[in-house]
Amino acid sequence: MIAIPTDQTILSIETSCDETSAAVLSGGELRSVVISSQHFHDEFGGIVPELASRAHMRSILPIVEEAMTKAACKPTDISAVAVTHAPGLMGSLLVGLNFAKGFALSLNVPLVGVHHIEAHIFSVMLEQEHPKLPFIALIVSGGHTLVVQVNDIGKYEVLGNTLDDAAGEAFDKVGKMLGLGYPAGPVIDKLAKNGNPDFVQFPRPMLHDPSYDFSFSGIKTSVLYYLRDHPDAASDNLTDIAASFQRAVVDVLVGKTLRAASDMEISDIIAVGGVSANSELRSRFAELSTQKHFRFFSPRPLFSTDNAAMIAMLGALKLARGSFSPLTLRAEARVPLADILS
Ligand SMILES: Nc1ncnc2c1ncn2[C@@H]1O[C@H](COP(=O)(O)OP(=O)(O)OP(=O)(O)O)[C@@H](O)[C@H]1O
Ligand SMILES: [Mg+2]
Repeated sequence: MIAIPTDQTILSIETSCDETSAAVLSGGELRSVVISSQHFHDEFGGIVPELASRAHMRSILPIVEEAMTKAACKPTDISAVAVTHAPGLMGSLLVGLNFAKGFALSLNVPLVGVHHIEAHIFSVMLEQEHPKLPFIALIVSGGHTLVVQVNDIGKYEVLGNTLDDAAGEAFDKVGKMLGLGYPAGPVIDKLAKNGNPDFVQFPRPMLHDPSYDFSFSGIKTSVLYYLRDHPDAASDNLTDIAASFQRAVVDVLVGKTLRAASDMEISDIIAVGGVSANSELRSRFAELSTQKHFRFFSPRPLFSTDNAAMIAMLGALKLARGSFSPLTLRAEARVPLADILS
């Protein structure tokens, strides 16, 4: 059982990628969260790091002010500042981290450095119903696809990882082939609702492999070949291609996560990260969990993608355990979850 501390007011900041976000968590409750997404990357088909960090610099102060105003929070109410320091785009991380350091220093309150992927795991604690430890986490986002056994805060066993693309990357690359803009995950999700998922049988890579690892580049290449061999399909059968691709990805993600939970004899499963907002992924997990007597948890879609509410939650949990960071804390572009020291 993880208890949420009720005696702190945490201001949190998230700038690891292309969302500038701030939140206030007070008395164990989320008081505000503000998320500003940088939609101008759409026209480049992916994130341009230099433009991302400049946009964070422009928006960080108004976003923090808005979060504090919405929460009716004064600077003197704040008991700690939590911030994402890894992993992510270096220029983006530095904007949030330096702002957080300045804020913490000026208020003379602790700074709590938070690992972005670890925060995705604890995004489930923002909801009413919580999983019990140990649980199995499917972390599925733009940069990660991991199956992890979570034994406690800071105690993770990585059971499976992607050998090539992350699932979100596959959604985005297939979306690009279909001319859907960036990020394509939410658009594919919407189109798939009106398509036939059995229209094309795309491969389910590694579904029956005994490991818990994933591979998504094969599905992506299959879509590429299909579109090359059927040049009219992207216009005539757009919803069917979207549904068939999504079905293949969901089959693998759900199949392998449930197998891990079953093998480890763990009853509680969570799905977090941007791709966990996918409606088919959620409904399949919910349906199979009921059938097979697992309990399934996922945050509301707003907290699946990048947000500062999850940073505040993990910040609060870490602070309650006496874990805070020196003002010399560095931004780091890559820190595998398995390397987090508890
Ligand atoms: N409904 C959806 N269905 C499928 N994919 C989705 C959906 N909503 C968002 N995504 C995908 O989620 C990804 C973004 O997730 P998130 O914001 O957690 O990733 P990130 O921060 O870029 O990566 P990471 O968390 O690994 O650093 C994108 O690839 C996007 O296409
Ligand atoms: Mg993320």
